[in-house]
Amino acid sequence: MNQISERGLWWSEARFGMFIHWGMYAVAARHEWVQSREEIHPEKYARYQEYFTPDQFEPREWASLAKKAGMKYFVITAKHHDGYCMWDTKFSDYKVKRDYLGEVIEAFRDAGLKVGLYYSLIDWHHPDFVIDVNHPLRNAPNIDELNAPRKQKRYAKYMRDQVGELLGNYGKIDIIWFDFSYPREDGRGKGREDWESEKLLALARKLQPEILVDDRLDLPGSADFSSPEQYVPEYGIRDEEGKLLPWEGCQTFSGAWGYFRDELTWKTPGQVLAMLVKHVSRGGNLLMNIGPNARGSIDPRATSILRQVEAWMRDHQAAIHGCGAAPEEMPEPENCRYTYNAKTKRLYIHILSWPQKFLHLPKMQGKLSFARFLHDHSEIIMREEGAPHSNMSAKTSPDTVTLLMPAIAPDVEIPVVELFLRS
Ligand code: GLC
Repeated sequence: MNQISERGLWWSEARFGMFIHWGMYAVAARHEWVQSREEIHPEKYARYQEYFTPDQFEPREWASLAKKAGMKYFVITAKHHDGYCMWDTKFSDYKVKRDYLGEVIEAFRDAGLKVGLYYSLIDWHHPDFVIDVNHPLRNAPNIDELNAPRKQKRYAKYMRDQVGELLGNYGKIDIIWFDFSYPREDGRGKGREDWESEKLLALARKLQPEILVDDRLDLPGSADFSSPEQYVPEYGIRDEEGKLLPWEGCQTFSGAWGYFRDELTWKTPGQVLAMLVKHVSRGGNLLMNIGPNARGSIDPRATSILRQVEAWMRDHQAAIHGCGAAPEEMPEPENCRYTYNAKTKRLYIHILSWPQKFLHLPKMQGKLSFARFLHDHSEIIMREEGAPHSNMSAKTSPDTVTLLMPAIAPDVEIPVVELFLRS
C-alpha cells in the first residue's frame, strides 16, 4: 500500500461512507456471528430463510439517509460469513428470492453515492469450505470425517464465480471489500493460499480496473487502503518513515455490525461526530455502519444519530469533505483536532472541549489572515501580538496566535473554527 492512487482520489476526498451489514442474521438479531458463536449447524441456521421476510425494505430511504448525513459512498454485504447470498447468484441456491442487492445498488447510485461491495471470504454454509477455528462445526467430534470430502480449491473457484457475477453484472463497482484472513501456524486458520487471493484480486482488477480493494486478502502490498476496525488509530496509519497511508476505519453505532436487538452500548451523536473528526484529522475515512433489521428497516436509534450527523454536516461539511491531516508544522491546540483542506488552504479547528476565553494556536504567528466560526461565518478575533494577559506569557510560546473565544459555546455538537491561511 502506498499513497492513494489517481483512481482513489474521489475516495480520499469523500472521507465519509456508510457500511451496511444486512443479511439473514438479522432474524436471529444476536450478532452477525451468531451462527459461529452459538455453534449452530448450517442446516439448522438455513431455516432462518423462511423467516427472512423484509416487508419494509426501502433502499431509497437508506440512500437518502446516507446522502443527507454527508456520506459519499457505501459498502454493503453481498455475502457475510454465514454464506447467505443477498443477490440472485447462479452459483448457489442459498440466496434471497429477490435481488435486494441490485435494488440497493441502484438506489444508492441514483442518489449519487459510489458503490462498494463487501464479500466474505469466510463461508459457514458452503460444503467445500474446510472447517476451521471459526466455523460453527469446529467442535464436532468427527471433524476429520466432516472435512474429508471438502475441497477448499472448489470453494476458491466458487468465490471467483461469485465475484465475477458481482463485478460483472452490476455496472461500475467502486470498492470491493473482502473479509477476512486469519492465517495460523497450526493450520486451523485461513489465508491467501486457501482463498487463492492472487487470482481473486486479479479478477477484481480485470473486471473493474478502477476498483479500490481493502487489505484483508492476506496479500501484503496489494491493497489500496487499510481497514482498522472498532478503534481509531491515534496517529493514523503510517509507513516506516511516518508518512500517512490511505486508511479507512470502520465503526459501529453499537457493539455489533448486523442487527442486534438487545445490544445496548450505543454511542452518542457527539461520540460519532468526534470519531469522524478524528479519522479525517489523521488522513483517514470513516465507514460508519448500520445494521438494518429483518424487515429491512433501519433501527430508530441509528436513524436518530444519522439525523444529528446530518444537522452538523449541513454546516460543517467543508471541514470534512476534501480534508485531511494538517501540515506537521502546525501542532494542534489543546483538546482540539485539526482538519485541513490543501486545495482551499483552510485549516479547521474542531473544538472537542470548550476552552475558557482563549484558544492558543501554537506556531501560527504570521500564518493566518482570518478566523471565523464555520457554522455561521462569524468573526473570531485573533491576537498575534503575544499573550493577552501578562501572566499567561509563560505558558504560551512566542509564536502563538490566541483566539478570543465567546464565553458560551455555540449550540452545535462540535464547534469548528475556520482559519484562512495566508498564501
Ligand atoms: C470483522 C467481522 C465482521 C464484520 C467486519 C467489518 O471482520 O468478522 O462481522 O463484518 O469485521 O469490518
